[in-house]
Amino acid sequence: MKNIVLIGFMGTGKTSVGKILSEKLGFKFIDVDEVIEKTTGMKISEIFSRFGESRFRDIESEVINLITKRDSQVIATGGGVVLRDENMKKLRGNGVIFCLKASENVIFERVKHCKDRPLLQVENPEERIKELFNRRKPLYEKADFCIDTEGLTPEQVAEKIIERLRDGKT
Ligand code: S3P
Repeated sequence: MKNIVLIGFMGTGKTSVGKILSEKLGFKFIDVDEVIEKTTGMKISEIFSRFGESRFRDIESEVINLITKRDSQVIATGGGVVLRDENMKKLRGNGVIFCLKASENVIFERVKHCKDRPLLQVENPEERIKELFNRRKPLYEKADFCIDTEGLTPEQVAEKIIERLRDGKT
């Protein structure tokens, strides 16, 4: 079985949905950020502050390289995975890509109190979200399927993904 890959902006619920989905499907759950933290022994925020975003992106690509060698997994990616084409090629190679969507306002409400997202530790996080959101939108839209998460619980989003898979639309 192919991997199920969840992409989408920070705060769209990739990790929570991914965990539920993996249990329902009996697949292994992989959270890319968690693998990065385990293998480096550092928090994502520490990697950003000590080595910068570009080193973080290199590590992220190395992890994608490694995990895409296996299948039958649900993979929750970090919001910036779409920034490198090579990541998406690898993930697409043996996976079906689902994008979880939410509006900028909902995203802001979900992430505004979160301190471990280094890209949002700026004076005006709302502005930052807008800017990143607009820049990345076309990249997220390249997913095989987009799921609107607004008003849905993670459980309901997982069900929607399963429906899509069962419909054989993949
Ligand atoms: C990032 C999103 C984060 C994490 C890192 C960079 C991004 O993951 O990978 O802080 O560039 O959008 P989540 O989407 O799980 O918050």
